[in-house]
Amino acid sequence: MSAPVTRQPPAGPENIREVPGAWPVLGHIVPMLRRPLEFLPAGARYGDVVKVRFGRLPVYVLTHPDAVREVLVPGDLDYKRGRIFEKLEPGLGRGLATVSGAEHRRLRRLLQPVFTRERLVGYASVMRDAAEGTAASWQDGQTLEADVAMNELALTALTRSLFRFTAGADTSRAIQNGMGCLCHGLLMRTVLPSVWTRVPTPGNVRFDRAMATMHRAVGDLIGTYRDAGEDRGDVLSALLAARDDNGDGLSVEEVHAQVMTLALTGIEAPGAVLGWLMYEIGRDPEVAERVHTEIDTVLEGRPPHFDDLPRLEYLDRVVTEVLRLHTPLVFMRRTLSEVRVGGAVVPAGAEVVYSPYLLHHDPRWFHDPLRFDPDRWLPENAARIPRGAFIPFAAGAYQCVGKLFATTELTMIAAVLCARWRMRPVPGVPVREIATALVRPDRLPMTVHRRDVGGHDGHGEHGARG
Ligand code: HEM
Repeated sequence: MSAPVTRQPPAGPENIREVPGAWPVLGHIVPMLRRPLEFLPAGARYGDVVKVRFGRLPVYVLTHPDAVREVLVPGDLDYKRGRIFEKLEPGLGRGLATVSGAEHRRLRRLLQPVFTRERLVGYASVMRDAAEGTAASWQDGQTLEADVAMNELALTALTRSLFRFTAGADTSRAIQNGMGCLCHGLLMRTVLPSVWTRVPTPGNVRFDRAMATMHRAVGDLIGTYRDAGEDRGDVLSALLAARDDNGDGLSVEEVHAQVMTLALTGIEAPGAVLGWLMYEIGRDPEVAERVHTEIDTVLEGRPPHFDDLPRLEYLDRVVTEVLRLHTPLVFMRRTLSEVRVGGAVVPAGAEVVYSPYLLHHDPRWFHDPLRFDPDRWLPENAARIPRGAFIPFAAGAYQCVGKLFATTELTMIAAVLCARWRMRPVPGVPVREIATALVRPDRLPMTVHRRDVGGHDGHGEHGARG
């Protein structure tokens, strides 16, 4: 006779292990701020769900892919957004990234037409033209701040995808300035105490002015588009044309909030990842050689089109590996009721953290996790990676709406730049990871060398290898 099965009751909140190292009063704030990139992954040693404290506030950190999926995939019935995105609402309005539940579901449906294949083909050509402009502006042997250049490229690609500028120069400038300011200032505000943002420091005054100017400029543009009533193939046209099953669209205020939301979410992360992408290609001669060879073979000197991108298979694996290694650090949810997660019971109203960075750096799922190895994404190797261990764009109801936009952008921009240039990190300059919600390089000086192969500027030796 087999032994009776004794089932363990799930661990209640009081039984979920607390990560050691809490300070009196401050809890884990100090170790979290000092060494966020070590602190969070180390939590996995203490359980699939572990507790940390921000002051007196308990926060539940999910360290196992199954626990993360249990929270993300059922979606918005048991969970609200959580602190990070909610703190953005005063700046963005009620955008897709700040609302929860039924309001979020309605917005998500209305935003579907913004990211159809047809629209993506158009955005891809905007991205290509932006990258061609950047590639044409470089001088052979020049050393540039690649992180800054890649942020600017992400800013231009998104701004021109949002609105094909027919506005006056002032409006364009206000929006470009506002976008940059929005990204840095607003993300900082998710970690600063709210009271600090109301102190009239020069930085806060500058931020408030840039935001007010940007809000006015976006409002003016929406008015111009509504008056013209034509589809310009851009995001704003798609937002204004969107209708639900009852034929109802977004109000002007809602369109405004979606533009601001896409401006924030669509620049900062792609800008950081693009920087890492050029860095990883540039620092390993073998990776660089394979990327360049593939681009030369597939494109034969032509400018890339959206339909070429799936044929750049090795570059796709490089992009995937960059999204694994250089991925966002934290996102949050708040429980609406008591929930069971990873064999534990988490109380109602609790803050829950999941971290793509933690999962992507866990040696249980990724052998030698710090090694940059695009071939771990060959189909036979990728099949061994457990479901849910790789989530750069999250999963479930609140997953990234811009996932295809982002992967298209990364591949397209790398294809254009690498067709013309070899980029190499400046030797001896250490590159450090700086963590906020995202993980960006502290600086990225790189030297660019013109490739003497069949680039599409017509100056190369067509077909030869660099
Ligand atoms: C490499 C680039 C990107 C990465 C790694 C990334 C990652 C993510 C992740 C992990 C989430 C889920 C956040 C959560 O769980 O709370 C998210 C949400 C979101 N992302 Fe992205 N993203 C990227 C690019 C973009 C782009 C280009 C856009 C827009 C064009 C965008 C728009 C959004 C929006 C609007 C949301 C909220 C979605 C919702 O709640 O329904 N993202 N992103």
